Amino acid sequence: MVGTRSAPLAIEVVTLFDELVRSNLRFGVLGRAVDQRLLSVGTTDPRDWATDVHRTVDDRPYGGGPGMVLAVEPLATAIRQAKAKLPVDSPVIYLSAQGKPFVQADAERLAALPGFVLLAGRYEGVDERVLEACVDEELSIGDYVLSGGELAACVVIDACARLLPGALSNEHSAQEESFAQGLLDWPHYTRPDEWQGRRVPEVLKSGNHAQIARFRRSQALGRTAERRPDLWARVVLNDLDARLLEEYRADRQSGDKK
Ligand code: ADE
Repeated sequence: MVGTRSAPLAIEVVTLFDELVRSNLRFGVLGRAVDQRLLSVGTTDPRDWATDVHRTVDDRPYGGGPGMVLAVEPLATAIRQAKAKLPVDSPVIYLSAQGKPFVQADAERLAALPGFVLLAGRYEGVDERVLEACVDEELSIGDYVLSGGELAACVVIDACARLLPGALSNEHSAQEESFAQGLLDWPHYTRPDEWQGRRVPEVLKSGNHAQIARFRRSQALGRTAERRPDLWARVVLNDLDARLLEEYRADRQSGDKK
């Protein structure tokens, strides 16, 4: 989480489909962050800066091939206009499958800024010269190709918004989320106590908070070790964590035998 802020986090999304972004801001944590003025999100449509009657924004690729490319103009003008609505020096981030992987540390870094522009591409991509001249950073939300950057922009906005002070309820601190510590989350349960023969782990009903914390930590460690070797490689185990991981593994093994 970022300390305190004197102004909302201001994000401007350059997009041809503003409703895709706006509709996402009406619900849950994001909706409340906007209502509480912790977050403000605007959109800029490159078509508004087109100079022909058809409001053209794309053109055929040099070198041939399928699809169209977002042309330098009016995109560059739209980016300039978007930046002008934000605090000075707000960086421009292009969402694309070619970008660096977007991770929790990026969300923390971006949520601490006064503002930034998110450029959502469409078609086959954006003329490379716009990226060279107008874009500070290129981020990908994963190794798959989306049909546009809007969903990726929504992911970045969501991950940042929940880190803003006051966005989550008091008892739910983003800092304490296991992901903030480089681990996967532990499992969650609610009533009923038993469903289709599956019972809630006894320790969670014990009221023993130290034991509950140990169980959760052990689950977070075990799941991360099993599922995410990439994250696991960066985990530094202290003695207690090493014991909790052993407990997790022993528990899994005895579960397998049942
Ligand atoms: N646009 C298309 N695919 C994307 C991805 N994987 N991440 C971010 N933006 C994208």
